[in-house]
Amino acid sequence: MTEKHDLKSLASSINAVASPFRSYLNELYEKYESLNDGTVADYIPELALAKPDWFGICIVTVDGQVFDVGNCDQLFTIQSISKAFIYGLALEDNGREYVNSKVSVEPTGEAFNSIVLDEKTNRPYNPMVNAGAIATTDLIKGNGATERLKRILDMFRRYTGRELNINVPVFLSEKTTGNRNRAMAYLMLNFGMVSDRIDETLDLYFQQCSIMVNAQDLAMMAATLANGGVNPVTGERAIDERYVQDVISVMLTCGMYDASGEWTYNVGMPAKSGVGGGITAVALGKLGIGVFSPPLDEKGNSLRGIKVCSDISRDFGLHLFNVAKSEKNLQEWIEGGNSLDNW
Ligand code: DON
Repeated sequence: MTEKHDLKSLASSINAVASPFRSYLNELYEKYESLNDGTVADYIPELALAKPDWFGICIVTVDGQVFDVGNCDQLFTIQSISKAFIYGLALEDNGREYVNSKVSVEPTGEAFNSIVLDEKTNRPYNPMVNAGAIATTDLIKGNGATERLKRILDMFRRYTGRELNINVPVFLSEKTTGNRNRAMAYLMLNFGMVSDRIDETLDLYFQQCSIMVNAQDLAMMAATLANGGVNPVTGERAIDERYVQDVISVMLTCGMYDASGEWTYNVGMPAKSGVGGGITAVALGKLGIGVFSPPLDEKGNSLRGIKVCSDISRDFGLHLFNVAKSEKNLQEWIEGGNSLDNW
């Protein structure tokens, strides 16, 4: 590393501490801190232990700057957010054609846990609803349960830049109460859409949902996708570049379940939510957002998370189809007028 490069990263980390963008995030946090609507998920009993006032917002830019406010170290289970990334691994393992033959990419307009398959093809509608996610987990390769789980954890390590662990009580809580998911898996087995290692795949699905992350991890994962599949801090590739487009397309159309249309209209960023209270959102070529706040709306999406992403998208013109001049210039707000050339 050259001295110049050292100075640049020093400057950028000092900016990350002092920039007006940090003040903006603090204000955003204060704006929604007192929002007390929504309910913490309790259909998986262990999730009901989350505190409703936990709230963290983290942004990671594609050049590796990290901005956070609130409870960004608080661990929680990734839940459905895992589905987008598992879809990417399934694509890498099997190729598009085969994965498409097992899971469609059509939004359902229905709840994430609906027991419904495409009537003509018997495929689950998309990899973001539970049925589709169980089918994509089935496609993860490996010699037995341990190796498959190891590959999944290793993939999440590449995205987050750190080793992740499974919350065993949440895993057991899901396994004990997950009969609806079990029903979906057997329905898909009936139609030959999944292999007959049902118990192993369901365990793997419950385990992937029980991986513990924090808001910063979610921002890093989104920033990795925003950066074409390369983690902007470690420089490690997390997913083959060819499949980034597939993953973020399905995130945009299906990532927020039966609120995906409204989300795309208002926020316009590929995103994925989880019943643990996390949302990860991708501003392609710019940054990743991770928000954590456990109270959910009736569709299973974090209420504060939606508000935060909506404000950030509007204020910095991050909507995919934004053509109007945005209210704030993101780069100026991040750099705070302190150009790195001044160093
Ligand atoms: O299978 C389930 O129901 C959970 N493990 C995941 C659901 C979820 O996160 C839906 N997201 N909003």
